[in-house]
Amino acid sequence: MTRKLVLDVDTGTDDAVAIMFAALHPELELLGVTTVNGNVPVTNTTDNTLRVLDWIGRSEIPVYRGLSRPLARNGSPGPRHYERDGKADPHGLALDIPEPRSSAADTGAVEFLVETLRAVTDPLTLVAVGPLSNIATALAIDPGLTESVEELVIMGGGHAVTNVTASAEFNIWGDPEAAAVVFSAGFGRLTLVPLDATHRALITRESVNALGSLGTPAGTACARFIGKRIEAYTAMLPGTDAAPVHDVVCTASLVRPELITTEHIPVQVETASPLTIGRTVMDRRPHTPDEPNAHVAFDADAALLTELLLETFG
Ligand code: RIB
Ligand code: CA
Repeated sequence: MTRKLVLDVDTGTDDAVAIMFAALHPELELLGVTTVNGNVPVTNTTDNTLRVLDWIGRSEIPVYRGLSRPLARNGSPGPRHYERDGKADPHGLALDIPEPRSSAADTGAVEFLVETLRAVTDPLTLVAVGPLSNIATALAIDPGLTESVEELVIMGGGHAVTNVTASAEFNIWGDPEAAAVVFSAGFGRLTLVPLDATHRALITRESVNALGSLGTPAGTACARFIGKRIEAYTAMLPGTDAAPVHDVVCTASLVRPELITTEHIPVQVETASPLTIGRTVMDRRPHTPDEPNAHVAFDADAALLTELLLETFG
């Protein structure tokens, strides 16, 4: 029995690996991909998503263009860490694979999400690996959509690990108001995969070489994308020679739940303080009075993730 899912992305290099995994793993059925402004503008996240699906021969999977900016703020609240520090960029504007032959659907991402979730007979899985602007807008149109989602898996947030600021992780920081709406919407099962987990599942240069040797389109692209990420992370921290591939931890955990180790805790998002805007406030206190709303991953298995990539892309 395959698991039906919709993927919301801001394609980038790690989103691209997550898309290929969801499109190629035999236990997953990728119904559609919605794109959002994030790593790069939505024109580019859409173009990159189309490039990926064409490259792996899955052009029949529809792509729906979404929001070009955060809900409430005027553009992302500031430059990215690597833009500000002038360090190597783990993404680039266009993925290093041929331009797309396909086009995005005429229907927009939010319309697709609302129509699809309203029409489902069996609840489906929603995986969001970029800023949550599309998801929050769909909920604004129909708050009852949460009933059609058996599990929402989000790549985002950070407790002991952050990236875009000292307080926040990029996806949540990219649209804090949208994230606050999503975390308080009452999804039956919300799984959050923050940087604390993704940074424990680094992919090494040795594994990149093995992926490149698979001789398949997905293996070749995956090696190229993760190789670029390793260059960027090594430029930021000489000697690293490995990189997190955040988004694929979400899609891979759908087929092997043991990939991540989670705690069921309360999570809220800061939307007011200039110093901590976009922070995911994770309450790990044993006797917190607050209701838990998310299963948060604090660990991930690097060896298992590597094995899953080699297996799926081979
Ligand atoms: O902070 C990591 C997240 O931000 C990943 O989803 C990456 O693709 C970027 O969107
Ligand atoms: Ca992403």
